Amino acid sequence: MATGKQKFVRAGEHKGESVRVLISRDKLQRRISEIATQIRQDFKDQPLHLVGVLKGAVFFLSDLARRIPGEVSFDFIAVSSYGKGTHSSGQVRLTKDLDASIEGRTVVLVEDILDTGMTLQYLIRILQQRKPKHMRVAVLLDKPERRIAAVHADYVGFAIPNEFVIGYGLDYAERYRNLPDVGVLALAPAKKKRAASK
Ligand code: IMP
Ligand code: MG
Repeated sequence: MATGKQKFVRAGEHKGESVRVLISRDKLQRRISEIATQIRQDFKDQPLHLVGVLKGAVFFLSDLARRIPGEVSFDFIAVSSYGKGTHSSGQVRLTKDLDASIEGRTVVLVEDILDTGMTLQYLIRILQQRKPKHMRVAVLLDKPERRIAAVHADYVGFAIPNEFVIGYGLDYAERYRNLPDVGVLALAPAKKKRAASK
């Protein structure tokens, strides 16, 4: 991982993979504080129920929840989008449901990244059917260029270019979630290299 003045945690890069920091941990934390303040301003004195999408949103949710003043509870939901690499197929299925009802509650759905929008479109639809009093969507990252489904996020941490990112909860084949920063993952074109050297 790139080094500057800041000391970065080594990501344990696999052969042929390298990571470049895109958003530092300090920048993430500053922006999350702003979002927390904004959410509380929008729903003064109301109990808020955060719904985190496993597993990518765990760190975002845990930092966000600790910065929202007043009454906050949270729950988790998990989906699978049939695909392991840097691309998903767009088909979404629920793999873990919420523990508690959201009916009549002020819900903030907390997701790591808004990419094609297929995941959030599905989640918003099934959660709306459960009749929350209010439902808002908070995403740490947004790749607007990739959008297929017309999904609106009420709170966006950072809009980023169309690059595959990892860290701060985001993974590549379940690795790199533990990086405290968000980075861009570069994959060496291993097959091409082998073919070229033949
Ligand atoms: P969408 O359904 O295409 O919007 O994708 C949302 C899900 O795909 C996110 O919750 C992530 O799990 C995953 N995803 C999309 N882009 C990235 C990325 O750049 N890095 C890691 N995971 C990603
Ligand atoms: Mg995810």
